Amino acid sequence: MSFITRTKPVDTGMGSGASQLKRTLGWPHLTALGVGAIIGTGIYTLTGVAAGLAGPAVILSFGVAGLVCACAALCYAEMASMSPQAGSAYAYSYMTLGEMVAWVIGWSLILEYTLVCSAVSVGWAGYAAGLLHGAHIPIPDSLLAGPEAGGFVNLPAVFIALVVTGVLLIGTRESATLNFVLVCIKLVALAAFVALTLPSFDAAHFHPFAPFGFGAHEMGGKKYGVMGAAAIIFFAFYGFDAISTAAEEAKNPKRDLTIAIVGSMLLCTLIYMVVAACALGASPFDVFSKSGEPLAFVLRQLNHPMAASLIAGAAVVALPTVIMVFMFGQSRVFFAMARDGLLPNALTAVSRRGVPSTVTMITGLIAAAVAGFMPLSEIASLANAGTLAAFIATAMAVMVLRRRSPQIVRPFATPVVWLIGPAAVLGCLYLFTSLSAKTIIFFFVWNAIGVVAYLVYGRANSRLRAIDAAIQP
Ligand code: ALA
Repeated sequence: MSFITRTKPVDTGMGSGASQLKRTLGWPHLTALGVGAIIGTGIYTLTGVAAGLAGPAVILSFGVAGLVCACAALCYAEMASMSPQAGSAYAYSYMTLGEMVAWVIGWSLILEYTLVCSAVSVGWAGYAAGLLHGAHIPIPDSLLAGPEAGGFVNLPAVFIALVVTGVLLIGTRESATLNFVLVCIKLVALAAFVALTLPSFDAAHFHPFAPFGFGAHEMGGKKYGVMGAAAIIFFAFYGFDAISTAAEEAKNPKRDLTIAIVGSMLLCTLIYMVVAACALGASPFDVFSKSGEPLAFVLRQLNHPMAASLIAGAAVVALPTVIMVFMFGQSRVFFAMARDGLLPNALTAVSRRGVPSTVTMITGLIAAAVAGFMPLSEIASLANAGTLAAFIATAMAVMVLRRRSPQIVRPFATPVVWLIGPAAVLGCLYLFTSLSAKTIIFFFVWNAIGVVAYLVYGRANSRLRAIDAAIQP
């Protein structure tokens, strides 16, 4: 079979010898897992960036991005419950769309996971810098921002990326209890923000509602309009893979996964729209959008310095777990690709503490370097490009398998799949074309490098190729 079309058989996790995990998670746990991984720099910082691109109509951008993500999330749930395994979109593509597409998706996921770590580090740094200023700790401004923001290096962003890398290297694992506490901190901080800004709500800030129009249009290297902002704010919604990877542990996958995935997406969309509306009502969009810590900035403007520090504190305490989730995700993608022979095994070597130290170190160092020198909006858009590619592949995989293997047991089946599947693909494609030209070009250059790497290494070392060759007469 050609390397372009060869596919792996669907692995339903049965008969692989892998122990079945205990079904202990109900929908409240699963929803908390999702909300914990989803809420991060997107709402805490990118709200400002996106408001600068769409004006008050950024509320619609949240709605559009949330809807597209909800469709993709339902497709993820079907694949994850049918074939729970590491590598998510990469693995699903390998079973359906062929080795070459799978490689491209895996390579795109590597880009996504690394850049999400960078973007969340920059978001964290904005709030940390606010706290440092508040505490009158003298740090030169040139060390608090990258070159595009008029500084030299964003040192706090480099710092947090390296600290999380270090914490992972000593073998720290995700903890359900800690996750629950941090979810509560993030939600309470957002609820406090809403409560404190509502009394100062001024509807005049909503006129004109959409100063940059609806469709994305480029000015000075940025895409403006509701869709331009949606393509960036899309960042705020992903991370729900965390729920789909726990599919094996759901007590009642059909009911619990549906409630958790749809529930966490709806909950986050609602929270985001309310928080954005309150920020817009309290401060003109062209004022708070320039801040690196927009929520704290709005509270300070309203004369709530204490609350501003508490919000910043909540962000500083809770955002590093988002970095952690994505660094774990990165090692899982590397594992899946190396297990298939497409990447060298040496990359996934596990330390004595059971940590994939090489991958973790490489990811941490690159994420720190990017966070130190690149602006948040560009990092987030590029991470979104990789994620959109993975979402499209997953929705395609669901539809291909519905046709090709209808008999496979699906603990969770995407409802109205012939509506949700195409909606996910088309919605993601539309968001992809709404990214800036620079981002799209960089994404294709990254994948062109990836294709060369595949042709030089992966194609020849593919396990599937070896199996195919062995069974050919
Ligand atoms: N959704 C995650 C965040 O907003 C990646 O930080």
